Amino acid sequence: MTAIPEFRPDDPSYFLQERNEVYRQLREESPVHWYQPGEFWVLSKYADVRHVSSDPATFCSRKGFRINDDIRTGQGLPGIPPSMLGMDPPQHTQYRKLVNQYFTHRQVAKLEPRIREFAREALDTISPGETCDFVDAVSAPLPVLVIADLMGIPTSERERFKVWSDDCIAANEGDTEAQGRVAELFSYVIAQAMERRSSPRDDLISIAANARLDGQFLTEAELGIFGVSLLVAGNETTRNLISGAARALMQHPEQREKLVRDPSLIENAVEEMLRWVSPVRCFARTATRDVEIREQPIAKDDFLVLCYGAANRDEDAYGPTSESFDVTRRPTRPHLAFGFGQHICLGAHLARLEARVMFEELLARFPYFELAGESRRVPSTLINGIESMPVTFRA
Ligand code: HEM
Repeated sequence: MTAIPEFRPDDPSYFLQERNEVYRQLREESPVHWYQPGEFWVLSKYADVRHVSSDPATFCSRKGFRINDDIRTGQGLPGIPPSMLGMDPPQHTQYRKLVNQYFTHRQVAKLEPRIREFAREALDTISPGETCDFVDAVSAPLPVLVIADLMGIPTSERERFKVWSDDCIAANEGDTEAQGRVAELFSYVIAQAMERRSSPRDDLISIAANARLDGQFLTEAELGIFGVSLLVAGNETTRNLISGAARALMQHPEQREKLVRDPSLIENAVEEMLRWVSPVRCFARTATRDVEIREQPIAKDDFLVLCYGAANRDEDAYGPTSESFDVTRRPTRPHLAFGFGQHICLGAHLARLEARVMFEELLARFPYFELAGESRRVPSTLINGIESMPVTFRA
């Protein structure tokens, strides 16, 4: 069994540095890697991550979908139902149907004017020549405003919503204070949903509050989980796509120049940004029977971590240039930044739209911006994120 020295994929602090070198080593030396301390497999090849994601009967989500999942560690709160990510068919299919139609390409496209307005508002806070934190000024505001808008959260609550969204990530890494505040968010969403059950509006909370599965309304706990998971799923991910992509553009000025000269390339560039950044590091599945992956026996009940960031730079999928950032890349295979199969990201069209609009607005207003100091990464096993990134926006 190949040893990957100091590999600690279950330790948030391990990800305070970039780990693409380790991902390459995994792909080359140990593509189906047994990580003894966590007692799980790590999959780093594109074909394997895609294959496992496509077969929920053999690789299920109900026994944990995060690397340090409460279900595995036995710390789950009793009575808290799983989010969609932790469900399997047929229950998953039913839940997904409830909201799918609100996230189609066509439906999401209607949000473009509003998203552009939010993007412009964020950029209005920056003066030419100024140095400020890119995350605070540019990446963070847009996704939280968009998701709060979709959920029908009053404008006055939006700052609180941003804090809650950070708490959700910290709670995932075991921060007990943050866990307490997530419980507040949970109650808040339930209260909003109950209000909308009696007087529905045109928003996602009203839809969930009034939806029926087998003739029954969702329970309060199910509504709470629905709201919390939407906020987490839609927020940190998109924020870190924007931050990570901006960093890539600063590190590859020749690529940025292409987008400045021809903004029509931005839509394609967003796919490369997703592949390159892979804002979600990994999700996981559990084998429901004995199987083999690359001739490696995997036992029933073994836990498998799907490493999207590693799979998205696999030479076998993207050729010899898989580790370079190329905004004109036209790959023959879709990237796995949104996962694949049954659970493929519900908000994929929305995230793409937010990123495209933000880079159109940003590059039109501030084509040249550069790093003005050290950026700090988010200590997370789940999110490949940037906590702060000082940037100077040239006049
Ligand atoms: C760049 C931004 C985003 C990234 C990288 C991302 C990534 C992902 C990934 C990797 C999955 C799991 C797929 C799997 O297990 O196969 C997922 C699921 C999900 N995402 Fe996203 N996401 C993003 C934005 C959003 C947004 C904006 C929303 C909602 C507004 C959203 C809502 C969801 C939901 C609800 C699920 C669960 C779907 C299911 O279990 O069927 N995501 N996302």
